[in-house]
Amino acid sequence: MNKQISIINKNCIDGLKKLESNSINAVVTDPPYFCGMTHNGNKGIYSDLNLMEPFFKIVFEEFKRVLKPDGEVYVFCDWRTYPFFYPILEQIFTVRNRITWDKKSGPGCYYSFCHEDIIFCTNPSPAFNKHKRGLNIWRFPAFSSGAKKTNGEKIHPTQKPLELIEHLVLSSTQEGETVLDCFVGSGTTAVACKKLKRQFVGFEIQSKYYQMALKRLKEVK
Ligand SMILES: C[S@@+](CC[C@H](N)C(=O)[O-])C[C@H]1O[C@@H](n2cnc3c(N)ncnc32)[C@H](O)[C@@H]1O
Repeated sequence: MNKQISIINKNCIDGLKKLESNSINAVVTDPPYFCGMTHNGNKGIYSDLNLMEPFFKIVFEEFKRVLKPDGEVYVFCDWRTYPFFYPILEQIFTVRNRITWDKKSGPGCYYSFCHEDIIFCTNPSPAFNKHKRGLNIWRFPAFSSGAKKTNGEKIHPTQKPLELIEHLVLSSTQEGETVLDCFVGSGTTAVACKKLKRQFVGFEIQSKYYQMALKRLKEVK
């Protein structure tokens, strides 16, 4: 069985177009959230996301094209980006659930932000006919609450804990199947796939994170 792991230093808009239709078993991806960032000295605001709508429509349409009929899509978001992503995804897929990632702790002084969310989508039934067991709240410590012990040092500002990504990969695919992540960052999804004997294809636009992801991959036995 060919267990290929492929990370490409490219804008995913270009990279996705080169993937074969009907070739991906699961998408596990963590796009930039944009809100809360500072740019030009100003705080990012919700309506800034409108600029990104055409981009994400193209990306999610590509997910639909490359996904196998019974494939699964998991898109990370937070309390500010969920209302932006949901209507776009809902036009393309059947949105099955919102999984809450309970991080145990988090920053913030108006009650702390201690969760993020994962939107779970599939093709409509009967193409997708699997039932998923378990609750839609998953507790995995973030870096600030203990993940460091098992993940090494945090090297990307929005790096996800390996245990959480492994849980997603195990929940959505079998050994030898293929996972797509078009926002690779430090390569957590690729590392999880290599450890769990899945194939992987992913894109990272920034060369420094692409290099970090390759280095992390090499360290996986
Ligand atoms: C939220 S981070 C992903 C973090 C990752 N889950 C991890 O654990 O390290 C999103 C990444 O997407 C990359 N990115 C942003 N726009 C992109 C694009 N158009 N194509 C490919 N990568 C992109 C950013 O450079 C950033 O590293």
